[in-house]
Amino acid sequence: MKIKTFLGGYDKNLSYLIWCETTGLASIVDAAVEISEIIEFINSRNLILEKLFITHSHFDHIKYLDDLTNQYPQLQLCGFNQPEEEYGDNFRGLTHHEIIPLGTEMLTILHTPGHYPDSICFWNKKENCVFTGDTMFVGRTGRTIGAKSNISMLYTSIYDNLLKLPPQTIVYSGHHYGFKKSISLKENIRLSSFFQCNSEIEFIQVMKKYEKNR
Ligand SMILES: [Fe+2]
Repeated sequence: MKIKTFLGGYDKNLSYLIWCETTGLASIVDAAVEISEIIEFINSRNLILEKLFITHSHFDHIKYLDDLTNQYPQLQLCGFNQPEEEYGDNFRGLTHHEIIPLGTEMLTILHTPGHYPDSICFWNKKENCVFTGDTMFVGRTGRTIGAKSNISMLYTSIYDNLLKLPPQTIVYSGHHYGFKKSISLKENIRLSSFFQCNSEIEFIQVMKKYEKNR
């Protein structure tokens, strides 16, 4: 699987174009950046855009969804099966641990609520990479100050799901908030107190300290 990163949108958002080299089938992870540059790239490589993966329904992650569906009316919109937004007839709801194909590539869905109820991550086991949206960034987690956020759920999503993936897994997150755009889980754990907690109570303390000092 190949990955091309695009930076832009509302707040240093990151969208990814991912594709299967065997079939040329491609998917965009989050319609979060202006689409002309992505479409140019798709056309230059003769790729076939098949799916949009939605990491969660926060507005900045679906900001350019209408632009995309206008250009690609057949595009399959793939997000959590209890979405916080209405996505119409082309929506495909995904469940925890479901495997969704992209050509010959397989992506495993991890439901990771906490930052937002419909947050999911897309994990490619073979390629050792995971697309985490706003659940995990380089250096920290997503925030839990929104009305639908939940710190306990985020703790479970991080510690029982994402941190259980192989340490060499590369994290591709929804925003460029760290010192680099992507990072291995192993390095993220080493560098960030958010990922070094031994209990939920400790995690809540780290989160609260972070919000207080912002
Ligand atoms: Fe978000």
